[in-house]
Amino acid sequence: MRTHFCGLIDESLIGQTVTLCGWADVARDMGHLVFVDLRDHEGIIQVVAEPSDAAGNAEVLKAAADIGYEDCLRVTGTVRARHAVNDKIRTGKVEVLAEKIEVLNKAEPLPFHHHENPGEDIRLKYRYLDLRSPDMQRKMRIRTKLVSALRAWLDARGFQDIETPILTKATPEGARDFLVPARMHPGEFYALPQSPQLFKQILMMAGFDRYYQIARCFRDEALRADRQLEFTQLDMEFAWVEERDVQDAVEDMVRHVFGEVIGVELPDPFPRMTYAEAMRRFGSDKPDLRIAMEFTDIAELVKQSEFKVFTDVANGDGGRVIALRAPGGASLSRKQIDELGEYAKKFGAKGLAWMKVEDVAKGRDGVSSPIAKFLDDPTLAAIIDATGVQSGDALFFGAADARTASDFMGALRLKLGKDLGLVEDSWKPLWVTDFPMFEWDDDAQRYVALHHPFTAPAVDSIDDLRANAGTAVSRGYDMVLNGNEIGGGSIRIHRPAMQAAVFDLLGIGADEQQAKFGFLLDALKYGAPPHGGIAFGIDRIAALMAGSESIRDVIAFPKTTSAQCLMTGAPSPIDDAQLAEVHVGVRSE
Ligand code: AMO
Ligand code: AMP
Repeated sequence: MRTHFCGLIDESLIGQTVTLCGWADVARDMGHLVFVDLRDHEGIIQVVAEPSDAAGNAEVLKAAADIGYEDCLRVTGTVRARHAVNDKIRTGKVEVLAEKIEVLNKAEPLPFHHHENPGEDIRLKYRYLDLRSPDMQRKMRIRTKLVSALRAWLDARGFQDIETPILTKATPEGARDFLVPARMHPGEFYALPQSPQLFKQILMMAGFDRYYQIARCFRDEALRADRQLEFTQLDMEFAWVEERDVQDAVEDMVRHVFGEVIGVELPDPFPRMTYAEAMRRFGSDKPDLRIAMEFTDIAELVKQSEFKVFTDVANGDGGRVIALRAPGGASLSRKQIDELGEYAKKFGAKGLAWMKVEDVAKGRDGVSSPIAKFLDDPTLAAIIDATGVQSGDALFFGAADARTASDFMGALRLKLGKDLGLVEDSWKPLWVTDFPMFEWDDDAQRYVALHHPFTAPAVDSIDDLRANAGTAVSRGYDMVLNGNEIGGGSIRIHRPAMQAAVFDLLGIGADEQQAKFGFLLDALKYGAPPHGGIAFGIDRIAALMAGSESIRDVIAFPKTTSAQCLMTGAPSPIDDAQLAEVHVGVRSE
């Protein structure tokens, strides 16, 4: 149908006759001549119809004059040098003088054109129009390149690509399951996998040494910019390994694909940090190291102060009083500071104390702060000294139980970083290690697994684990990039007694263990090798590579934050007959 791609026409083709297919991106009718920007997946070329062309036919000009946005065209013509060079496009030095223009399909007036941004809902409803835009084409191509670079790396190293079931039994990763009624087994359900976790572990027990899968995962959880109900993992598992075997291998892989796909050189090796250190310094288990700001713990300094908000926490158990130095923050207005306080409240803050430092040399007279009056001179001096605050900066203070204070001050750190322009233009990967094994869930009054229940504890002894469950550290690890968790994994439990003990600590009794995970406990009995692995969020990595704020940009047909596909209208009601067939009734409340 065509001889060349629009976006690849260049000066080497001058004088040649080409046939191109594409959409009419724009048509400009100048009366005596018509310009058409013809677009395909490779880019745009300018087509000219003029009465004085070689063919000299009025038909071409007439056809060109009728062209509307997004008409599908086939154009035959001669490549020639362009009078006015357009540096903005790859083909800007040339154009095609049309000899024949065929309209293959006329487009009706469009709901929107990709040159405008009508809002995400309209873009998602007419996703096919949105995806036609050069920017979306670029983003989707980055994703394709990412996946093929990953596969090339894995294939060269003997990883076996093995598919695991989609209709399966629940695999807990901390989210709700999507259920599928089993027509042949009334009242029973399959679950869609939250990840291939148990299957990949069992593959290691089945004699496969290194597995990978580009796996679709399903999690019924609240959606955000970096979360979808269904998303794609690069899922990997290795037999006969310890942490560093897995980490060193995948770190090399990630460095390789960043070089290959977007020409970015990531540091070698990646820095490492324990969970405890990350929480202490940045209030996050996925700190964005492009922002240099760090916390200073000041509980010890304010124990004796007059400010009850601080003293209550500083003299109590399990709390933190955190100071955060915001370089240049003295320029923030009262209104902006109030807005930051409101922002912190969304993350659990009861309030946000602050101090602007106009002139650090003047001590008390150089600062303005609603809490300065509660701090005596030595305390004030100690805070200034500990935080290293300079003239022109601001300090923000958070006092609460450790988790809450870390959370809201961590969120504030990110916001200040952005607002004050303190996010370095760079790539900052990081390994976070030594996660707690369990987290206490106040609502459920029991422990929950911080990674998943198959993660090995750092201790080998079941008695030790039982005795110190609250402080036990796991063999889990996350890979973080610019404040995004791009991958998470662990060394797994490979002995049945330890697995049963961990289930037990998670409040999963013997009967439930058998019913839900009997097949795993069985498989662990018959010679399960030590094993471990990791899964990367392909959508998240692709979004980072494409410079997108949301993973929706690198998923062809994503769901909205209210869990709908605006194009197809899913989810949608099912008629009674079909429901009856799968033995399902819908409750009306
Ligand atoms: P985890 O739950 O940490 O681990 O998931 C691994 C990676 O998958 C990505 N991810 C998501 N991406 C988009 N939308 C979501 N809803 C979503 N949830 C997770 C993240 C995350 O780092 N089976 C384990 C892995 C293992 O232990 O090997 C697992 O699924 O980038
Ligand atoms: P108040 O005494 O409640 O008027 O608070 C005085 C200042 O302390 C205000 O700026 C509050 O925002 C701030 N503040 C209140 N609670 C906290 C807290 N838990 N952590 C940090 N600052 C707080």
